[in-house]
Amino acid sequence: MDIFIPYLFLFLLLPFSLYLILFFHKEDSDDPKNLPPGTNGWPILGENVNLGLLGLSKFIRGRMEKYSPDVFRTSLLGEKVAVFCGAQGNKIIFTNDGKLVTPWLPLSLKKVLVPDLDDSSSYKEGFDVFNKFKYDTLKPEALRQYIPVMDAMARVHLRDDGWKPHFAVKVQPLINKYTFELSCRLFFNVTDPEKLQTLSGPFGPMRNGLMSLPIDLPWTAFGRGLKAGNIVRAEMTKIVEARREEMMRKGRGEDRDMLSKMLEVKDEEGKFISVKKIVNLFVGLLVASFDSTASATNAMVFYLAEYPHVYEEVLKEQMAIAKSKAPGENLTWEDVDKMKYSWNVAREVLRLVPTTPGTFKEAMTDISFAGFTIPKGMKTFWTPHSSHLNPEYFPEPEKFDPSRFEGSGPAPYTYVPFGGGARMCPGRVYAKLAILVLMHNLVTKFRFKKVIPHEKMVVEFSASPSHGLHLHLYPH
Ligand SMILES: *[C@@H]1O[C@H](CO)[C@@H](O)[C@H](O)[C@H]1NC(C)=O
Ligand SMILES: *[C@@H]1O[C@H](CO)[C@@H](O)[C@H](O)[C@H]1NC(C)=O
Repeated sequence: MDIFIPYLFLFLLLPFSLYLILFFHKEDSDDPKNLPPGTNGWPILGENVNLGLLGLSKFIRGRMEKYSPDVFRTSLLGEKVAVFCGAQGNKIIFTNDGKLVTPWLPLSLKKVLVPDLDDSSSYKEGFDVFNKFKYDTLKPEALRQYIPVMDAMARVHLRDDGWKPHFAVKVQPLINKYTFELSCRLFFNVTDPEKLQTLSGPFGPMRNGLMSLPIDLPWTAFGRGLKAGNIVRAEMTKIVEARREEMMRKGRGEDRDMLSKMLEVKDEEGKFISVKKIVNLFVGLLVASFDSTASATNAMVFYLAEYPHVYEEVLKEQMAIAKSKAPGENLTWEDVDKMKYSWNVAREVLRLVPTTPGTFKEAMTDISFAGFTIPKGMKTFWTPHSSHLNPEYFPEPEKFDPSRFEGSGPAPYTYVPFGGGARMCPGRVYAKLAILVLMHNLVTKFRFKKVIPHEKMVVEFSASPSHGLHLHLYPH
């Protein structure tokens, strides 16, 4: 709910004059272009308030039922948006990147995350730099070397960071801390607690500003996000510049992480990429890796506590792996590869509570879909929530059943926690490794039980436990 509370305040504090406008506002009923059905909601606020109150999953499914299961129109984050739904909707978006749709960032996200990239050409350039870079550093062969580091960090974290056996522990902040520190260690080798603190402090408000109504006031999520974004970038700039200096002093070492590789990349003209671009890229990477990984890991622990029979199966698999290793020996790629059941559990978790809300794009041309026309320039949105709970694709969709992923698994374009097509989430393997390595360490060390029986996973934009995931921890 965090992200939306500022809207509710805004909603309640609106000046009287605006109420009058709201009172007299009419639905725009001219429909010359055969637009998808839907509503624009309130002026300025659009349907953000409804979304905040319902959560993304209910919001999407309610509108699919009311308007159309294929595509409906709404207004979010200050933009009119066509939401493409179901396997066909996902497919048309995923397979037409650069043909029918092009990446688009909501104003809030752009202003908070990359305020200096104003025109679309430099924005596209950022994508290109990232694309070149991601295949090099996020491909499985590169990720392989992260596993021992993840494992060693998970062990230290569980030993030193507040996971107390025989106690009731609030798990979400611990997992978030671990996930954040893992990214900082792996991407740019920052482990110093003080430096981590200067980054993680403003990181929260920055994230909350990303998907907000772009109204810049001191008390809005957006206003706070802008400020926090500047602080995060300033800190990141210090880190990048210090490394650049170190590399100039010491030369190209053997020991290289993502940041040192990035500092060696040259653009088409043979020039090094500017510090500013690298900073933007790393802040983006941090946001992307943190949100999805932390949310998925929290959800995984939540469901293991919720379903003891699933926990037992995961434990069996992880214990067999633990027994095959010497004490203190790090996990390897081959070990993670054996975690088949555990991964199916994680996949089922990501079906029920996807960690990405989906993404926005912009129509490059008039798009005909399901009998409607989405005009050129209109924003589009796809979301896992339009298909993940559809009983046609997933029988008994509310049931937690990891066996759905055995054999050939779900039909194409129905299960899309990482998107699909050319822009499928490049961090999906990273997320998989981070989740499974922590899970290995957690279940082989502890049993756990929910402290608050009615605690749930709630999905606004991404998923989180309603009360911070309070668990009793017991040693084996
Ligand atoms: C495990 O990996 C960490 C991080 O790479 C390393 O420092 C440690 O020496 C490794 N432990 C063993 C037993 O190889
Ligand atoms: C990361 O930091 C450690 C010490 O904190 C150092 O030994 C190592 O060389 C660094 N790695 C890179 C790639 O800078």
